[in-house]
Amino acid sequence: MTQPGFFSAPRFDSLDEILSAIRSLTDDPLAGAGTNIVISRGNPDAKLLLIGEAPGPQENIKGKPFVGPAGQLLDKILQAANFDPERDVYITNSVFRMPPGDDGKSFRKPNDKEIEFYRPFVFEIIRAMNPLVILLTGNVACQSVLQKTGITSLRGKWIELDGRWLMPIFHPSYLLRNQSREPGSPKSLMWEDIREARRKYDELLSR
Ligand code: URA
Repeated sequence: MTQPGFFSAPRFDSLDEILSAIRSLTDDPLAGAGTNIVISRGNPDAKLLLIGEAPGPQENIKGKPFVGPAGQLLDKILQAANFDPERDVYITNSVFRMPPGDDGKSFRKPNDKEIEFYRPFVFEIIRAMNPLVILLTGNVACQSVLQKTGITSLRGKWIELDGRWLMPIFHPSYLLRNQSREPGSPKSLMWEDIREARRKYDELLSR
């Protein structure tokens, strides 16, 4: 089977096919965890794709990504740059089930094996959706798509891949833990990054 990716042969013919293949997964590394498949929200025809980490407890219940506290902050950040989260953006994750914590109740970060398993599906979503701009929120999304981490130095810098423009940005959960608005704080850097994303998006759309 061809490993899907930016430059490989397509494995699915449409986004709907990809979504239904993900929904039917039974052999994924988190299948045994008993958590639900959570894939995407927003507009699949949008030119901006945002990729997060993994669903949390609220997302696991509601079946949509970024609907808990981090998601509420994410929507505010997008709206501050005049992006309508439902119309202008398609939002997905690097991992499509919540990884349960050791106590079976809370949740944890996805591990390497989980990120690698779901990666081909993330690439297939990118290929089928064909966005101009991709925002990677936090280290897990960077690991999935760029196969590298180090968000503090990666954030705010554009990477061009196969005609698409990717930018790593902080994860909104990180901003929830770091409330300072001082110059150089995560919140102020996020504001710079989302404004730059808006500038690039407008430039690419006007071509
Ligand atoms: N954090 C993420 O990265 N994704 C979600 O869907 C929710 C929280």
